Parts: sequence; structure tokens; C-alpha cells
Amino acid sequence: FTSETYPDIKRDPKFAEITEDHVKFFKKLLGKESAIIDGVTKDATDDIEPFNGDWMRKYRGHTKLVLKPGSTEEVSKVLKYCNDNMLAVVPQGGNSGLVGGSVPVFDEIVVNMSRMNQIRSFDEVSGALVVDAGVILEVADGFLQEKNHIFPLDLGAKGSCHIGGNVATNAGGLRLLRYGSLHGNVLGIEAVLPDGTIMDDLGQLRKNNTGYDLKQLFIGGEGTLGIITGVSIMCPQRSNAINVAFFGLESYEKVQLAFREAKGQLSEILSAFELMDAQSQDLVQKVTGNKRPLESEHPFYCLIETSGSNSEHDNEKLEKFLEDVMEKEIVSDGVVAQGQTQVKELWGWREGIPECLGHWGGVYKYDLSIPINELYALVEETREKIHNSGLLGDTDDHPVVDVVGYGHMGDSNLHLNVAVRTYDKRVEKALEPFVYEWIAKRDGSISAEHGLGLAKKNYIGYSRSDTMIKLMKQIKNLYDPNGIMNPYKYI
Ligand code: FAD
Ligand code: MLT
Ligand code: ZN
Repeated sequence: FTSETYPDIKRDPKFAEITEDHVKFFKKLLGKESAIIDGVTKDATDDIEPFNGDWMRKYRGHTKLVLKPGSTEEVSKVLKYCNDNMLAVVPQGGNSGLVGGSVPVFDEIVVNMSRMNQIRSFDEVSGALVVDAGVILEVADGFLQEKNHIFPLDLGAKGSCHIGGNVATNAGGLRLLRYGSLHGNVLGIEAVLPDGTIMDDLGQLRKNNTGYDLKQLFIGGEGTLGIITGVSIMCPQRSNAINVAFFGLESYEKVQLAFREAKGQLSEILSAFELMDAQSQDLVQKVTGNKRPLESEHPFYCLIETSGSNSEHDNEKLEKFLEDVMEKEIVSDGVVAQGQTQVKELWGWREGIPECLGHWGGVYKYDLSIPINELYALVEETREKIHNSGLLGDTDDHPVVDVVGYGHMGDSNLHLNVAVRTYDKRVEKALEPFVYEWIAKRDGSISAEHGLGLAKKNYIGYSRSDTMIKLMKQIKNLYDPNGIMNPYKYI
């Protein structure tokens, strides 16, 4: 992709172009060779490309400069210089975001946080973990495992995403049902504002009602107000027992019944309830070639995870639940994992979906909050619409491979995905604004957990009123009066 991908956006001339003098300043400030990838004073090398392109291969910018500060003070000096010189900036974590927020649109400087990767402290009594923003989620969770604790967030990109990126996107993920959102779990944030001010709100207090809770603005702020450099977060005790069941159902009505039964029968040990339709599982099977967990095929599949204190006891509960819902003919067939290897295998059928969908070339992704009784209707209507348009088919002259639905059923969060062989304007036209109008009619959200980024900037009005958007703009202008932070995105 080139900048022609964005014909409706013009580079804002108020931003300065990067010069050799700017680069000289940053080199002096950051010192080390590994702290800068410089395509200004020499021709852009291949090395810079991964910082310009997103995970979906859908968005591509043209930065010539990537800065990797190693401390909060360095971030402060970088931002102050950028603000004084009208240089636009894109904060970047693990670059696993799914809305085009983590890569430049034009030549904005990428401030990549990977060198700020230290765990600062952990309090084994309270469970408060304090980390640099660039710590990889899986690294933090591995550290906590040794301390018999767990990170309250888990998601498929855990091997690459940063905790700072998770907080900046207010990522939801697979454990939200049990542990709640980052708005509740994050205890404190250290962030740098565009003028270089360090906002030190890195407290470890569970309760603190002294004035406006400003850190909340950075949770889900997507790098539009400043750069998060440190995070303090409440981590629960790790459960001794993780058990998983995977089952097939014949209708979405029955999926809803199963969810109600699971909440009733498994109550406090239920830690995830995930939904996958047959189409999503077919594509995972095609890509991985793995043997299916169930012999029989079904229109819907669910994965339930329990986290409790006694594996045998929880396993028994899960077996009993499965027996009961099969007897009531809610569930058609199912399996309870025997041991941790099978737990991982079953999770693979859910966590593997995003990567497998990209196998053919690209994916149109919609991450939606919908009243639960209507959640799957959107997938059916979209599939029919795409099918009727003649865009869906098995051969290369059809852009669409399939329309699939999956997601965090326990949070009423649907992922409607359209896997494509190539990104194609005709497909986009069939999907938008159709999907957004459908959501607005039901008072849903056009972004449940992935954020707005560049992808949804123009559609925020489908989920937020003019008054709300006006208030958001006021906050943006207050924190970032020059507009250098992640421009062209969000609002
Ligand atoms: P990036 O992608 O680098 O950045 C994301 C946004 O945050 C950008 O706007 C960027 O400017 C900003 N940002 C990054 N770091 C900072 C910082 N330190 N300070 C200020 N702003 C910053 N999301 C979910 O919610 N739930 C899921 O289940 C889920 N599963 C995923 C599975 C896969 C396979 C993939 C690829 C993505 C998934 N995501 C999911 C998307 C999710 O948003 C990201 O994985 C993650 O939260 C982003 O972290 P990151 O470090 O990669 O951030
Ligand atoms: C997921 O739940 O798998 C993630 O949010 C990623 C995606 O939507 O594909
Ligand atoms: Zn998700």
C-alpha cells in the first residue's frame, strides 16, 4: 500500500518535515545506535518498514524516523522537542493493534517503546505490579506465574503486544468476563504529555477518590493525549486449576441458553465464554490442518474456561455441566480437556482465528458490542449481503473467502470478520456504512475493544452523540493543543 490508500486525508502542512538537524538532535539525545532507525540522513532501509506497516497489512505509513527512548526522561525530551518543532508523533508498542492506530499515516515520527521493558516492582501481598510501558504482556504474565499471580488481561497477541499498548487501547481480551476491564484494574499510570510534562500518577492504591481520575483518559486514549511510560496494575492470585470445555450447538438460540446455564452452574469459577461459528472453524482447519476437537460438525461452537482452586473438583463440575446441557438438548456434542496440553489445543481453535483469517491476504474486521440476543443476526445478514453481491466465492476472481463471526460472547462482544484475498473497494462499500448503521439502530458500539484508530475515526458518530464528541475534542485540545499526538486518527 501507498499513501494513495488514503485519498481522503491530506497531510497537514502545519507539521514540519523531518530534517537532518532534527535527526542530529535525536541522535545526541538517545545516543545508542539501536535507539534510532534513521531513513532521513541515509536512504530508508528495509529495517524501517516493519514500523510503517500494521499487523493486518492494511495500513502503511511513510515514516523516515523511528525513535526508541530508554527512559521516561528521554520520552519527555523527545516529546518536548517534537512539540516545540511541530513534528507529529505516533506512539508505538508491539504494533499488534487492529485499527491502524499504531502506524503513521504520512511521515509522523514513530516513538517505539520496546526499549522501556523493565518490570519495576511487584508487591506479593497486594498484587500490585509496576512495569515500564514496553514490557511484553506474555513476559509480565510469565513473571507473575512464578509469583503465583496472573495478569488480569489475556489476548492472542500476548507474545508481541506491550502493556502500554494494552492500556492505550483498553484491550479487552479473553479474561475480561472474570477479571474486568483495565479501567478497573489499572491502579496508576505514568505518562508524558506532548509538552514534555511527566504526569506521575503511578500510585498503587486500590482506592483514591481525590479529584478527577485523570489516568482513565489514557486508558483507551490510543496515544492521542500523551505517551504512557509506566503502568501499575492489580494482579489477582493465579488459580490452581484451569479447565476447559469445547462444545457444538445447533443454533444461536441454544448458544444463549448454554451461556445462561454456564453462568448458573459454574458461577464463580467461570473465567471465559467464547463463541466461534462453523465458518471460522472451517477456515482455522483449512489453514492449520489440525484434527477437529469434535467428530461431528455444528453451526456454532463454544469454549468455556473455568479457573478455580481444585482441578478435580472443577473438572467434575464442568463434566456435570456438559452432561446436563446435553441431556437438555442445548448442546449437541462436547469435550472436556484432559490435561493442560488439551487445554492449549482447545484454546488454539479460538485464539488461532485472527491469524488464520489473514491467510488468504487480508481481513475486514468489525469489533462490536451488540445486545446479546441479536449478536449473531448481524453475521447472517452480512453474509447474505456479501453473497448476494457476488463477491463471495471459492475462486480467485471473488475477493471474499468467507464471512465469519466469533468473539467474547460473555461480554456481548462480536468479532464480525470478512476474510478476503485482496482488499477491495467493492467489499468495503458493501460493508460500510451498512454494519455501522445496523449497530447504531441497536444502540451498540462500533468498537467494543480494539479502539478507533484510523479505521473508525469517521464513524464514531454512530456510537457517540455530538455532545460527547465535542467534549472529547475539548480534552484533546487541552492536552495536545498543537495536535502532534497520533494525528489524523481517533476523533
Ligand atoms: P500498538 O498496536 O503498538 O498500538 C496500539 C495503539 O496504542 C496505537 O494507537 C498506539 O499509538 C497506542 N500506543 C501504543 N503504546 C502506547 C504507549 N506506550 N503510550 C500511548 N499510546 C500507545 N485486542 C483486544 O482488545 N482483545 C483481544 O482479544 C485482542 N486479540 C488480539 C489478537 C491478535 C492476534 C492481534 C494481532 C491483536 C489483538 N488485539 C486484541 C488487538 C489489541 O489492541 C492489541 O493486541 C494490543 O492491545 C495493542 O498493544 P500493542 O502494544 O501492540 O499496541
Ligand atoms: C480476538 O478476540 O481474537 C481479537 O480481538 C482479535 C480479533 O478480533 O481478530
Ligand atoms: Zn477480541
